[in-house]
Amino acid sequence: MDDPTRPGVIGIFDSGIGGISIMGRIRAQLPNQPMIYLADQGNAPYGPQTLDQVRIHARDATRTLLGRGADVIVIACNTASAAALHELRDEFGDVPFIGMEPAVKPAAAGSEARKIGVLATEATFQGKLYANVVDRHATGVEVMAQACPGLADLVETGDVDRPRAIELVASFVEPLVAAGVDTLVLGCTHYAFVADLISTVAGPGVEIIDPADAIAKQVGRVLADRDLLGTKPTNDITYITTGDTVAFDRQLEWVATRLSR
Ligand code: DGL
Repeated sequence: MDDPTRPGVIGIFDSGIGGISIMGRIRAQLPNQPMIYLADQGNAPYGPQTLDQVRIHARDATRTLLGRGADVIVIACNTASAAALHELRDEFGDVPFIGMEPAVKPAAAGSEARKIGVLATEATFQGKLYANVVDRHATGVEVMAQACPGLADLVETGDVDRPRAIELVASFVEPLVAAGVDTLVLGCTHYAFVADLISTVAGPGVEIIDPADAIAKQVGRVLADRDLLGTKPTNDITYITTGDTVAFDRQLEWVATRLSR
């Protein structure tokens, strides 16, 4: 029988390590919750796949997390949210899902130039979710969509300080800056790990919007609504991957050094 006083378990998934940037913010705001993180590296990257393919992966990831006792599911992946958030909510009726959408709303609200750029995967821009977000929140603001093929893979390798990384980021960011955007939205959770680089390439006049804190707040609200907030700090954190576990352990060490900077 369920223990009514137990803290809710937060299940989080992404195609890889990107969602750990979200998990870090959730943990900072909700240190009393057990968490399970699933990196679906066996099926990564999601970005170049069709939305139908990503939907299948998202459903499998959800089932895995629920099977391990998750009470809420955070889709810490813009691509999987674009592909599957609505379908997962329909399919898993009682399970609360918190998904990601590119943070066009705060970006549009804060842009003096009335021109913003969104960096995301190819698949994220194909989804209806993105079109809806722009329709709802970008009235009077030009939104430039920039797909960044290869950038999530680069973050997965951890080689983000090499010249190749700077070149790749510059190839995506410089045209947006040249076009006059003053705000860039990180529309893929992997990009948080190269936010410094994006900011350096973009220059001091460009604001970078990372939605992680807003997502963490939303997770807190969902848990509070369901009486699932824990009362004591816990270190009950589990990491799983559908890919290579040895490589994943090395990535987790790298991620820990990046998050503590
Ligand atoms: N981290 C994912 C996102 O937020 C996608 C990376 C990928 O697998 O292409 O969109």
